Amino acid sequence: MNLAVIGTGYVGLVAGTCFAESGNDVMCVDIDEAKIATLKSGSVPIYEPGLEELVRRNVKEQRLAFTMDLAAAVRQASIVFIAVGTPQREDGGANTKQVLTTAEAIALAMDGPKVIVTKSTVPVGTADEIRRLMAATTQHAFSVVSNPEFMKEGAAVEDFMKPDRVVLGGEDPGAIDLLRELYEPFVRTGNPILVMDARSAEMSKYAANAILATKISFINEVANLCEKVGADINEVRRAIGLDRRVGPHFIFPGAGYGGSCFPKDVRAMIAMGEPDLGMDLLRAVDRVNERQKSLLADKVKRHFGPDLSGRTFAVWGLAFKPRTDDMRDAPSITVVESLLRAGARLQAYDQEAVAEAEKIFGSRIRYEREFRLHETAHEKPCHFRWPQHL
Ligand SMILES: NC(=O)c1ccc[n+]([C@@H]2O[C@H](COP(=O)([O-])OP(=O)(O)OC[C@H]3O[C@@H](n4cnc5c(N)ncnc54)[C@H](O)[C@@H]3O)[C@@H](O)[C@H]2O)c1
Repeated sequence: MNLAVIGTGYVGLVAGTCFAESGNDVMCVDIDEAKIATLKSGSVPIYEPGLEELVRRNVKEQRLAFTMDLAAAVRQASIVFIAVGTPQREDGGANTKQVLTTAEAIALAMDGPKVIVTKSTVPVGTADEIRRLMAATTQHAFSVVSNPEFMKEGAAVEDFMKPDRVVLGGEDPGAIDLLRELYEPFVRTGNPILVMDARSAEMSKYAANAILATKISFINEVANLCEKVGADINEVRRAIGLDRRVGPHFIFPGAGYGGSCFPKDVRAMIAMGEPDLGMDLLRAVDRVNERQKSLLADKVKRHFGPDLSGRTFAVWGLAFKPRTDDMRDAPSITVVESLLRAGARLQAYDQEAVAEAEKIFGSRIRYEREFRLHETAHEKPCHFRWPQHL
């Protein structure tokens, strides 16, 4: 099939590349000139295990291409994916401007029938909004299907190639059948393709992220309580994780969740419930997480005193979790900024995220490219590590 993917970020690049790998012709579009130039030159602008090799192979075999020309990409495609950003608005809700602008641009470019698929995480009702907006812009036939993406950074290629499930939300049986055919190679091991209405599909993505964020805030609260009463959170975690109703995943205590999805999606879900539903549970999840992010630095200051001048700390891990270079909303930002404000010197190590971290911290901290701790003449460095969620 001929596909266009609009938005070549973490989601669009992985999705486009994996669709090409399964034999489709894919045109990935972005407005970021530097990103498209990097991709055209054979490099991949993000770190994601296995991605670079897959991109290179599919470009070489001419199934994958990159462009800034949205109209040309749309015209050659029967299915157009929208994978642009939906950042947080000031009031906490999701900003769908990029999605709606893209939908309008697709409608303007259309020269025949298309299936439009939203991969971006969008508030419930966005598929309807896209349908209305496009119908007012084009005479050509189109269908809108919601197809939320559940991949996790750090294992995105693997997740995309072998998804636990594929969710398709839409009413047009022809469009659903076409997408079933597209996803068939990815669900050969029997994992299901769930078909539902678009609103339920849109909500599924938020609910999936919210339950994971809730598990993290829950275990962090239990960990803090363990510390207060003298229990060992790791023993407790194992004891509860062996209960099949709970399960062992996502109950590792740490410095709070971060990344480009959980914080903004929890808040977007709260915003969707306003003004009539209190959304008390998710508000608490968010509050617990915000507090958790400052806990490590607070502990360091309690131990060494509020003035950390003259002390050097090693920070092990900068990205919001392992095997990614994504620094968006990483808890390390809160920790590093707090220690710097207290006068500490920091030397940080991260296998993948140093270039991204430099954009945030600049030269205010020292970066180690290899894992090696420097010791000064007068003191041994104090180093700590926070567990990161897998
Ligand atoms: N990152 C994840 O792990 C993940 C997982 C599931 C869902 N999502 C959702 O997928 C969406 C994309 O996330 P991401 O992490 O890939 O974001 P990203 O910021 O990495 O990528 C978005 C890309 O869209 C491009 N873009 C913006 N407007 C455009 C336009 N008009 N035309 C063409 N390109 C345009 C941007 O330049 C950027 O490269 C978001 O809604 C996010 O919530 C993300």
